[in-house]
Amino acid sequence: MVAKRVAVIAGDGVGKEVIPEGIRVLSAIDPTLDFSELDWGSDRYERTGAMMPPDALATLAEFDAIYLGAIGWPTVPDHVSLWGCLLPIRKTFEQYVNLRPIRLPPGIPSPLAGRGPHDIDMIFVRENTEGEYSGTGGRVHVGHPQEVAVEVPVFTRMAIERAARYAFGLAERRRRRLVSVTKSNASRYAYVLWDEVVEEVARDFSGVEMQRVHVDAMAARMVLRPDSIDVVVASNLFGDILTDLGGALQGSLGLCASANLNPERRHPSMFEPVHGSAPDIAGQGKANPLGAIWSAALMVRHLGDEQGAQRIEQAIDRICEEGSVLTADLGGAASTREVGDRMVELVRQTTVPR
Ligand code: IPM
Ligand code: MN
Repeated sequence: MVAKRVAVIAGDGVGKEVIPEGIRVLSAIDPTLDFSELDWGSDRYERTGAMMPPDALATLAEFDAIYLGAIGWPTVPDHVSLWGCLLPIRKTFEQYVNLRPIRLPPGIPSPLAGRGPHDIDMIFVRENTEGEYSGTGGRVHVGHPQEVAVEVPVFTRMAIERAARYAFGLAERRRRRLVSVTKSNASRYAYVLWDEVVEEVARDFSGVEMQRVHVDAMAARMVLRPDSIDVVVASNLFGDILTDLGGALQGSLGLCASANLNPERRHPSMFEPVHGSAPDIAGQGKANPLGAIWSAALMVRHLGDEQGAQRIEQAIDRICEEGSVLTADLGGAASTREVGDRMVELVRQTTVPR
């Protein structure tokens, strides 16, 4: 078998600290993985005026997967850094599913009173190529009192359908419950189309119980009845916001993992922790690498190694249950590196899948 090639964009801030730990864990699982580090990000922008080289997307296309830390730094406006790197990758490679598991590991206290691991185990399918983040719009009369900005959400039948199909398929393999999140009462075009398309797809998945919930009600439900939620499908913006809430529910945003998937595998998929570059703690060795490591589990699963993915996820449960080697966001005192060390030991010990 040809070794899988992984492009590594550690990016900015704590991305540079958590990604090396993820690579160590990945190498312990599969020593044949072949990593190529790319120095793309805000430092490069400051040096060269661009986040990535002009042929960046062609370069990435040759890889089996992309492992990304974080993009964004106070010296570069966020919309410039993100539209110069992260968002073009998601869109160009049709990574139309942003998959985000929200699960409270054992040993981590939930911020919700009386809730434990059995109550918080959901997974988000966030539409990842269009919607409110379509990038369509413009500004006119710039700098004048009559300045206008227009930002146009774009929803296509195809993108809604493929995200919904993926989510229903996932629900079939889980607890057969799907919530579709919109705001189709106040917004009467795009989210109404969303509802219609999801209803159509639902007909092909009669074993899955589907509910439509408005995003405002969903925010409350995640707090009050997290146990009632299994798979969620949501637009780009709503999925973005609700998964930060999810990160809080699972004990820390530092634990939150994501996979930007091109399910057909026509293009490389990208794996990244949900947290950002965290300038406030960057460079101090304090960042939680578990979100990056959990994202690495999603990568090896996508690359076909289900057992490897389960070993990493099991090791995450173990380190959380042990509680002695955790970073400050989870109430511990360990460094990024110490968590990485312990995770490497744990994945070496956990050889048997659950
Ligand atoms: C995320 C991030 C990004 C997003 C930003 C940085 C563009 O918040 O991955 O959730 O909204 O997609
Ligand atoms: Mn986000």
